[in-house]
Amino acid sequence: MRIRYNGGVHIPAVFPVSGPDSIAADDAPRRPSYPTGRASAATPDEILVVGADRGLRSVMEQVAQVAPTDAPVMLTGETGSGKEVVARLIHARSARARGPMVRVNCGAIAPELVDSELFGHERGSFTGASQTRLGWFERAHGGTLFLDEVAELSLAAQVRLLRVLQDGELERVGGSKSVRVDVRVVTATHRDLRSLCARGEMREDLFYRLAVFSVEIPPLRERLCDLPALAAHFAERAGLRLSGTPLTVARDDLELLLSHPWPGNVRELSAVVERAAILGNGARLEVARALEGHGASVTAPRTGEAFATLAAATRRHIEEALSRTRGRIEGPNGAAALLGLNPHTLRGKMRKLGVEWSRFRETALERRSA
Ligand SMILES: Nc1ncnc2c1ncn2[C@@H]1O[C@H](COP(=O)(O)OP(=O)(O)OP(=O)(O)O)[C@@H](O)[C@H]1O
Ligand SMILES: [Mg+2]
Repeated sequence: MRIRYNGGVHIPAVFPVSGPDSIAADDAPRRPSYPTGRASAATPDEILVVGADRGLRSVMEQVAQVAPTDAPVMLTGETGSGKEVVARLIHARSARARGPMVRVNCGAIAPELVDSELFGHERGSFTGASQTRLGWFERAHGGTLFLDEVAELSLAAQVRLLRVLQDGELERVGGSKSVRVDVRVVTATHRDLRSLCARGEMREDLFYRLAVFSVEIPPLRERLCDLPALAAHFAERAGLRLSGTPLTVARDDLELLLSHPWPGNVRELSAVVERAAILGNGARLEVARALEGHGASVTAPRTGEAFATLAAATRRHIEEALSRTRGRIEGPNGAAALLGLNPHTLRGKMRKLGVEWSRFRETALERRSA
């Protein structure tokens, strides 16, 4: 079978594994042939997209057009703008909705592990490979593979990805037989891939294969009409979580929120509202204070408090950077760039200071089981 978007499926027999990503061991197709439109009890309604009928209307129209096809989709937009929300919606509205939706953060995979992560490995194929492991492609079989931050893949990894996309087949690391997979690929990036192509950092052939249909998610500052509803949604959620009572946003607070530039988009808004609710002990929103303290990565110790050692302050600062980049170290939006360090230097410091990278690293499995 091939990975393709203009028809035809196949289903390979692969050995069975247990767990939520298990692949059927039989040859029975797990989904109807393309194109069938929605084919499942999948619940796109459960994926809340605030602004669907306002600032994101055009995005939603494009999603409605492309979701039922098997076309690869590339989602672009600034960090926190909602690319993952849209990716999940595309999956939920596709004929693959009953299959798995697997998200891989390409920026969080160590370069030497890319092959094993994406394509899996056979037992004993390298030191430490004590068991056969399915790669993300196989885990997404019958469903959607969401390659987040796809521009972070090295050129070498891009070549291998392209080959799998072209052939519809892969070989696990250390394996000799080809495994066929049926996967729809959705990618996301906050970077300008055309200029990366022009600079030779992204393969043009891969770009064209991935960006058959691209959807741009506008930044929050360009759709402030959605801000009141988003803030109301986050306030309600934060209040329920903290005190069991939904909170509402006062008009003055809304004015404050509307005048903020929101470089971190919807994610930043969600964090500010959450912070405002915590500062107000779950009983009210302290929006002004939340915006004031917002963005300060290291708070200066106040007089009377124990003075942090330089090592402790450095560790905290590195942890803050890792938490903002969700574990990403390399690349222009990685923690190293944020801290103005070379990635090797940062890794060295993390080792020395005992920063546990795994705490910040977000994997698809974690995200799905959250
Ligand atoms: N339209 C929306 N309605 C409700 N929640 C939203 C919306 N857009 C984004 N969010 C929420 O904002 C947060 C950030 O969204 P998401 O993870 O989709 O952004 P992203 O574009 O993938 O960011 P990044 O580039 O940093 O990975 C998530 O918690 C998401 O649920
Ligand atoms: Mg994302």
